[in-house]
Amino acid sequence: MDGMGESARLQAECAAGRDGSAVGIYVHVPFCISKCAYCDFVSYAGLDNLHDSYADALAAEIASAPRLRARTVYFGGGTPTVLRPTRLHELLEALGRRIDIIGGAEMTCEANPDTIDGPTLSRLRAAGFNRLSIGVQSLDDDVLKVLGRTHDACVARRAVDLARQAGFENINIDLIFGAPGESLDSWTRTLEEAVALDPDHLSVYSLTVEDGTRLAAAIAAGELPSPDDDLAADMMAAAASMLGAAGYERYEISNYARPGRQCRHNVDCWRHHDYLGFGASAHSKIGGVRLSNHGAVDRYVASLLGRATGCSKMIDSGEAISCDGMELSRMPQRVWSQSLSVRDRACEATILGLRLLGGMSRDRLDELWDGAGIDVGVALDQLRADGLLEAGDSVRLTERGVALANEVFRAFV
Ligand SMILES: C[S@@+](CC[C@H](N)C(=O)[O-])C[C@H]1O[C@@H](n2cnc3c(N)ncnc32)[C@H](O)[C@@H]1O
Ligand code: SF4
Repeated sequence: MDGMGESARLQAECAAGRDGSAVGIYVHVPFCISKCAYCDFVSYAGLDNLHDSYADALAAEIASAPRLRARTVYFGGGTPTVLRPTRLHELLEALGRRIDIIGGAEMTCEANPDTIDGPTLSRLRAAGFNRLSIGVQSLDDDVLKVLGRTHDACVARRAVDLARQAGFENINIDLIFGAPGESLDSWTRTLEEAVALDPDHLSVYSLTVEDGTRLAAAIAAGELPSPDDDLAADMMAAAASMLGAAGYERYEISNYARPGRQCRHNVDCWRHHDYLGFGASAHSKIGGVRLSNHGAVDRYVASLLGRATGCSKMIDSGEAISCDGMELSRMPQRVWSQSLSVRDRACEATILGLRLLGGMSRDRLDELWDGAGIDVGVALDQLRADGLLEAGDSVRLTERGVALANEVFRAFV
């Protein structure tokens, strides 16, 4: 530790959150209409009976939040748009009553194409959301089937058009490459068609086969081929080249944006700024402390609404973490809290910061690692010699470093 007690430091940083730098707000909605074959996010299908009580619990958690300032609001999931737009509107209003959301804040809502129509989108826009992130994933129907998506390419395209018509001027689409059986030709067509939709931002993810998913089981059973790493590398290169040629800047390993359209919420997270999360499994980082809520929806709801007993027991971190006069770590929805050591903070901030292709200043890196008593220059010299980093006044991944980013990150763990 660096001399200042954690609680004292948190309180100081919390005060900064109220008066100076603003935090990001994340609201997790863990429901989907159906579970995709590849997804291991905290999201559940078939819990429609819990939607209303979950929204009530979110409202209760928000009502008891510390009074911070926020510059971004992000509703993610799961699929937030499985909740009725009026509920999402009420939750934004609840946030506005408790949190000082600065003018012009970026307010994102994630959506699955199957959950949005014209009237829903107009209501979301009127509620105050000004950025929509649509899970398109692919514009090839065969790939969408392998991924276990409920929509086809036509519905995905229409969702983007409807969002524009509803007045969204900042639209992201998520794409995934490397599905079993997907060819480079098919991926190239998806990219061409995605560019034709003219989104402001694209998140382009390499498919990860997560343990415990239907996709992992199908691959293990030999029903589907394993993803091919070389093909995935070619697909990543095709995305960089085609999206670059279409005027999108690659500003993070998996993210591309029109000028000025980077996702501010995520950029702040990569810059290691603070955020406050609401909802089941939501994490927060305030000052040097991480907090996490119950992951199970029923326990989260019960902890906030008191509709069941025995569910509000939390793991005691042994330390009361206060912010705005509240013991954040001892709130009933929390399952754990953890004070990050100076080294943990340096490690996290470096790995997140280097994901941004603009990199980090050398001064910032030195400041982070000097605090932990570690000379970061040794690791930087080695990574530069390996052609993975450019390290002058600012430190950033080279093209080779982007492709081998995990190798770079391991050097800082
Ligand atoms: C919460 S979802 C987005 C909104 C909505 N639930 C949907 O899927 O339409 C976040 C994104 O993470 C990506 N994702 C999830 N699991 C992934 C995996 N195993 N590999 C690669 N990308 C994944 C998908 O692109 C997905 O759109
Ligand atoms: S990818 Fe999106 S829609 Fe599919 S299960 Fe995950 S969170 Fe739900």
